[in-house]
Amino acid sequence: ETPSADDAPQLRHEITRVGVVGTGTMAAGIVEVFAKAGYDVVFVGRSDDKLAGVVRTITKNQDRAIAKGRGDEATKEAVLGRLTGATSRDALADVDLVVEAIAEDLEVKRELFADLDRICKPGAILATTTSSLPIRECAAATSRPEAVIGMHFFNPATVMKLVEVVTTADTAPEVDETVRALCARTGKVAVSCGDRAGFIVNALLFPYLNDAVKLSEEGTHSLTEIDAAIKEQVALPMGPFELLDVVGNDVSLAIQKELHAEFGEPGLAPAVTLEKVVAEGRLGRKTGAGFHDYA
Ligand code: CAA
Repeated sequence: ETPSADDAPQLRHEITRVGVVGTGTMAAGIVEVFAKAGYDVVFVGRSDDKLAGVVRTITKNQDRAIAKGRGDEATKEAVLGRLTGATSRDALADVDLVVEAIAEDLEVKRELFADLDRICKPGAILATTTSSLPIRECAAATSRPEAVIGMHFFNPATVMKLVEVVTTADTAPEVDETVRALCARTGKVAVSCGDRAGFIVNALLFPYLNDAVKLSEEGTHSLTEIDAAIKEQVALPMGPFELLDVVGNDVSLAIQKELHAEFGEPGLAPAVTLEKVVAEGRLGRKTGAGFHDYA
């Protein structure tokens, strides 16, 4: 049955100002997604340098859009004009929704959620873009578990349309509906997911990526051959090593460890070479080298 416009999710909470915590790849992309959609965005980072990095990334993306004939100076200025960087979380007191995109570490996230609960106004929605940690654990650190939800964006966040919207047993239906409506307003496609490690996409995608690394360890195929074969046959836009380098090998390792810890299957143990490239600082495109070189 095709859903009619009447079935489309509605904004049950008014959303005009959005907060983002973090200044990494995902955070910068999410800030840009909201600013492009017309929302005022307050983003919080640990230093002025990191805040400036977010503005630099967004400026670069806007310039690329102009160069490709998809944007203009006025749009770029409007997008940049909607950004407010802050080094104190207190700047989030008045936002209607916060998306956190900080380290994939449960203790760090729980500390943040307790803080957001204290700082953000009553009724504000607290979202996390964690790719594998339990949303219910973030919710348990707050006094408002009904307002806590997962909004899992994909990398690059400005391009990838999917957002996995992850509810817990406590998430209020109107919070879920508001977030799904917000996804639609920002040009994203929301898919509802349960709160289990890896949600839908990563639960299926990362075992495959990890297996590709294990396959390469046998030494029978080059990384380039594996990338080429998968792109040709499965019609994916990137081969596994190209994609690992886009996602970041540190992020990928954290996801794989989480899947392994949660389900305990020996086959889910992170590939040795994935651990090795991370230990060597070859994190992917963001460091200029990962499985492939980008110098
Ligand atoms: N940041 C911002 N924009 C980018 C970008 C980036 N890193 N990379 C590409 N783009 C934009 C380009 O500007 C371009 O838009 P225009 O043509 O309108 O200018 C558009 O994306 C397409 O890019 P290209 O034509 O240069 O290259 P492409 O056709 O190869 O597409 C891609 C690039 C969209 C990244 C494509 O290769 C792709 O879809 N790759 C797979 C990405 C993917 O699967 N991501 C999910 C990973 S899993 C994850 O993220 C989960 C998690 O929890 C970590």
